[in-house]
Amino acid sequence: MNAVAKPHAVPDYKVHDIALAAVGRKRIRMAEEEMPGLMQIRAKYAPLQPLKGVRLSGSLHMTKETAVLIETLSALGATVRWASCNIFSTQDDAAAAIAASGVPVFAWKGESLEEYWDCTLNMLTHEGMTGPQLIVDDGGDATLLIHKGLDMENGDTWVDQPGANHEEQVVKDLLKRTRSERPGFWTNVAKDWRGVSEETTTGVHRLYQMMEAGKLLVPAINVNDSVTKSKFDNLYGCRESLADGIKRATDLMIAGKVALVCGYGDVGKGCAHSLKSFGARVIVTEIDPINALQAAMEGYEVKTTEDVLHEADIFVTTTGNRDVITFEHMQGMKNNALVCNIGHFDNEIQMDRLNAAKDVSKENIKPQVDRYTFASGRSIYILAEGRLVNLGCAHGHPAFVMSNSFSNQTLAQIDLWTNKDNYEKTVYRLPKQLDEEVARLHLEQIGVKLTVLTAEQSAYLGIPVQGPYKPEHYRY
Ligand code: NAD
Ligand code: ADE
Repeated sequence: MNAVAKPHAVPDYKVHDIALAAVGRKRIRMAEEEMPGLMQIRAKYAPLQPLKGVRLSGSLHMTKETAVLIETLSALGATVRWASCNIFSTQDDAAAAIAASGVPVFAWKGESLEEYWDCTLNMLTHEGMTGPQLIVDDGGDATLLIHKGLDMENGDTWVDQPGANHEEQVVKDLLKRTRSERPGFWTNVAKDWRGVSEETTTGVHRLYQMMEAGKLLVPAINVNDSVTKSKFDNLYGCRESLADGIKRATDLMIAGKVALVCGYGDVGKGCAHSLKSFGARVIVTEIDPINALQAAMEGYEVKTTEDVLHEADIFVTTTGNRDVITFEHMQGMKNNALVCNIGHFDNEIQMDRLNAAKDVSKENIKPQVDRYTFASGRSIYILAEGRLVNLGCAHGHPAFVMSNSFSNQTLAQIDLWTNKDNYEKTVYRLPKQLDEEVARLHLEQIGVKLTVLTAEQSAYLGIPVQGPYKPEHYRY
């Protein structure tokens, strides 16, 4: 691991190998070519410097696409620090290129959980032991750490109770360390913090829970539910990156197999479509009657996991829920079944129980591919240790779809800062006009030509005549 100490109290960056910066830079340039929305937003707002001098921290997969986001936020004037939001998702060359450019980044592929949370703390620690004014979060870990840190400094004893699992204990140990090494740190961080924009469904669920409990410390923008995010990244992104993850990990032939997709939300729809288009026979599980009906209308059988244990070759969890594939399910699967998760956290598959089971042996095939053998003699393969298969075993979604997500992120960050005195401590969504604008910024590159309403047609429908985007249409 390379780390360079600066006058700053913590290392300036921590990446796998800074010598990868040159190749990382080439791949970032290629990503830029596929990110027209983000690059146009950069060109438009850089001269205006809407984030000038703002301390900004990001907890989001450190990929080449994220590198383009980081460099956009920097071009808009922000002082950025970054960490990944997953122990396996960092692209080491992209991280090296960002570190070499002078942006402090704390991320490498294959972090331990202790290292992951240390990276998160470093990402939140700006010059002079100050905290960020804005956060880009993916899954809510940065947001959680600040809330728990502040609770601790206000006398809450959560950190002193035993952790419910290994990761929770790691978080508690880290917070206890900050209590002795940096007294008052979280109170200062919370004081300067003005907003967070959240990338994903699971992080958004966490934000609404905090809001409903009256605990949310800052205004939050739910980027996930912009149409140009959840109906593109979650759906079309996973439609490409799920199979990429399975193929890079295993080279498995998908055609002819039976695949079970647990959950038929946005991610599940993309995954089911992908597997079907490769020639798999796809079965879906759902708890929601509308989504179950949608799956049936698309021609998928909708069953329970128990129904298909004996016939499915591939299992994919996409729910954002916990315990979706249990230890008992895994024991009952066909020999050599492939099990993976594309939802945010690693508790959709009961990995803790699988790893703790005494009569189960584990053989590592290669990084992020493990074969578990049960007492019955049957084996299953688990990808990315039950974490996001598309980012652990492949490179996540392609740049073009991430350009949509990250255009929303950038607009959310500008809005949070520009309107910081007008926001309440609640969860907001971006206005529909911005969603439409993000879509518009991506049309030309793929040869889409919009039909423009005539004056008569727009009067007939009672909507304004469409025209090119003008900055004065929006708040900033
Ligand atoms: P969603 O809410 O649209 O879909 C989840 C679906 O799962 C819902 O339809 C729900 O009814 C169903 N579900 C819940 N519990 C279930 C259970 N026990 N069995 C069967 N179905 C169940 O959410 P989404 O946007 O599709 O996101 C799903 C997860 O994927 C989240 O954790 C999200 O953060 C993550 N995500 C990952 C990526 C990625 O690149 N890997 C991208 C976007 C989102
Ligand atoms: N989430 C899914 N794919 C991603 C990518 N390529 N970069 C960052 N976050 C992602």
